[in-house]
Amino acid sequence: MQIVRTVAEMKQLRKQLAEPVGLVPTMGALHEGHIELVRRARAECRTTVTSIFVNPTQFLPGEDLKAYPHVPDQDTRMLEAVGNDIVFMPPAKEVYPPGFNTWVEVKGVTDRLEGASRPGHFRGVATVVNKLFNAVQPTKAYFGQKDAQQVIVVKKMVADLNMNLEIVVVPTVREPDGLAMSSRNVYLNPEEHKAATVLYKSLMLAHELFWKDEKDAERIRKAMIALIRKEPLAAIDYVSIADPETVEELDAIRPGALASLAVKIGKTRLIDNLILR
Ligand code: PAJ
Repeated sequence: MQIVRTVAEMKQLRKQLAEPVGLVPTMGALHEGHIELVRRARAECRTTVTSIFVNPTQFLPGEDLKAYPHVPDQDTRMLEAVGNDIVFMPPAKEVYPPGFNTWVEVKGVTDRLEGASRPGHFRGVATVVNKLFNAVQPTKAYFGQKDAQQVIVVKKMVADLNMNLEIVVVPTVREPDGLAMSSRNVYLNPEEHKAATVLYKSLMLAHELFWKDEKDAERIRKAMIALIRKEPLAAIDYVSIADPETVEELDAIRPGALASLAVKIGKTRLIDNLILR
């Protein structure tokens, strides 16, 4: 497995890679969710590139940029074991050299949910993903359904800017207790971990109501909120039943609706989602 730290070296190496090339963008602290993306890329592409870059521009002031777990040796061991070909891990000054001043802003779909709670977050995501696409020039790029709105934003950017690659979405990988895997789960103590299963439980409740033919989105939101409020360690940021393309809140449920939520468990903010179908 090759480790690449500069954009120039990545672009040079790109010329000799076996096609198709799959890219898995990550911020490291890899877990089984990330590894599933790499496996999928390996299955579909002749070369797999995984990027590890904790992107400072997608963290808001006061968020966990400084505390974000950083375990490059463990990450590279995991990537080696799963058969990843290239790790692209540039330092911050390589991605954002002095004078950097160009931003990619996807409007509309970033106004709500994560975009509303974390203003500027998706500008940082879209900008860095664009830069990673330019450095690696992948045939396909792999993203997790775990970050549902990120997928929507990236797909919109690719369509609007006529980018030449395919976006592949991989289902959310969960712990046996239902908690969606996340690099931020390491912040949870055992009691908080248990409390955090309320996110998945509330999504299962939404799923059950949908199957019982509940048509009113507001009734589903209210049922999810009531369930979460029973968990003393949980504080709701938002609970949403939205259109899967525009992310606008729905009045009436329809198949494909995106149930999503952000909840703080202690100091840790967690997100999760489920497509109702
Ligand atoms: P990060 O949070 O490290 O996630 C990298 C990729 O792994 C994302 O596409 C994310 O959706 C996916 N992922 C995370 N947990 C998952 C799970 N439990 N199941 C399936 N996929 C999962 O998302 C980012 O980094 C950044 O915003 C990035 C796209 C790298 C841009 O900086």
